[in-house]
Amino acid sequence: MTRLTRRHFHGAALAAAAAATLPGTLRAEAAPVLHARQGRAQLAPADYPETRIWGYDGTVPGPVLRARQGERMTRLLRNGLPQPSSVHWHGIRVANGMDGVAGLTQAAVEPGEEFLYEFTLPDAGTYWYHPHNRTYEQLARGLYGALIVEESTGAPEVDLDEVLLLDDWRLTDEAQIAGGFGNMHDRAHAGRIGNWITVNGDAAWSRAVPRLARLRLRLVNTANARIFTLAAQGVEGRVVALDGMPLEAPLPLAELALAPAQRADLIVDVVANEGEEAVLLSLERNGAYVLAAFPVEGIARPAALPAPDALPPNPVPALGPLDRARRADLKMEGGAMSAMMAGGMMGMRGMVSAGRVWAFNGKLEMDDTPLIDLHRGETARIVLINDTAWPHGMHLHGHHFRHIRTNGTVGPLRDTLLVNRGETVEIAFVADNPGDWLLHCHMLEHSAGGMMTWLRVA
Ligand code: C2O
Ligand code: CU
Repeated sequence: MTRLTRRHFHGAALAAAAAATLPGTLRAEAAPVLHARQGRAQLAPADYPETRIWGYDGTVPGPVLRARQGERMTRLLRNGLPQPSSVHWHGIRVANGMDGVAGLTQAAVEPGEEFLYEFTLPDAGTYWYHPHNRTYEQLARGLYGALIVEESTGAPEVDLDEVLLLDDWRLTDEAQIAGGFGNMHDRAHAGRIGNWITVNGDAAWSRAVPRLARLRLRLVNTANARIFTLAAQGVEGRVVALDGMPLEAPLPLAELALAPAQRADLIVDVVANEGEEAVLLSLERNGAYVLAAFPVEGIARPAALPAPDALPPNPVPALGPLDRARRADLKMEGGAMSAMMAGGMMGMRGMVSAGRVWAFNGKLEMDDTPLIDLHRGETARIVLINDTAWPHGMHLHGHHFRHIRTNGTVGPLRDTLLVNRGETVEIAFVADNPGDWLLHCHMLEHSAGGMMTWLRVA
């Protein structure tokens, strides 16, 4: 993360002061505590020792926070970690001072200190929370949890609503979290790819379900860098939301790529027979791997339910005319196998010593100049040009955007978009949320290595 500049700090202090004087603000003592601290979890099989982790309330994942759309969410972060930290509410369109970005929207919360987060939940859907300070280390150690916002009206009827947080750990032979966070090799390549996969902190997650039960599966990729390619067997249904946002037209259940930080909501009916299993699979080069198993026990109903409706839309403003939108280009360069790394822009030696191996528009580090200055309410277009040999999962804070396809059609609302190597994609959004907002790669070693910028909405 970039150093805290005076201007940033001033802005954050003002935002915090404004939040503290909002009518109806709970006093910090009355707020439920979210305690970031060290803990233990049985990530590996039982004949291995427990893994020492960092977790919210000491657990992996942290508690599932559930609230209803339109409600206020309040949590007092208590930092029991040996490092400064913060909480970012990924995908929630919060007020800027609550966005949790250490060094941009607030000062990092020092060990032993507290910070009160309080914000309204404008959108229903599947979101998550994680630190935004040394994220590449703190997330890899287990600090994350789901934030589920129930639809205020029109929630789909399901028999089981299950949150599945997918993670990819790099463990030692003793099942401890391997060090070397943010090392140069990970930065310059695919990021910290692990060697141990869990769902909800469990390497063999399983839950019995009756045949013909209807499930809502809320999938979240909490890994630092791994892109999951998912498939399901023994169920029939559709993808009804991506990154929390309902799809106007739900998608058929096919192969689904889930980049770091992305979410997908599925509504599926169990069609496997009693005694069989429905499974969620991760498709890998050398075969398929069972992420989650649903052994089928009993029958929920005599006949399958009719197909579910689309979820009710969230109140995200519609895009203005694109030909009058303000536009910025964001060129991504660098990484292993690039000219930049081979000595072009800065020279390998200089880049390595600075830990910067990627550049956004030629900048190796985020500075005081925003990528783009936007007027509140205007429509913005950003062209993401991936001139690297790696995929990048680009995340915008404070807003959801749409992918503008080359044929002019508009994709679903997202907060994180996978931009493949060599690919150029355009996104557009209504800049209706005032403040300074990050735009970065969610492969966390990449953002630590320079893939981070910000934009201003005023
Ligand atoms: Cu999920 Cu900048 O964060
Ligand atoms: Cu990246």
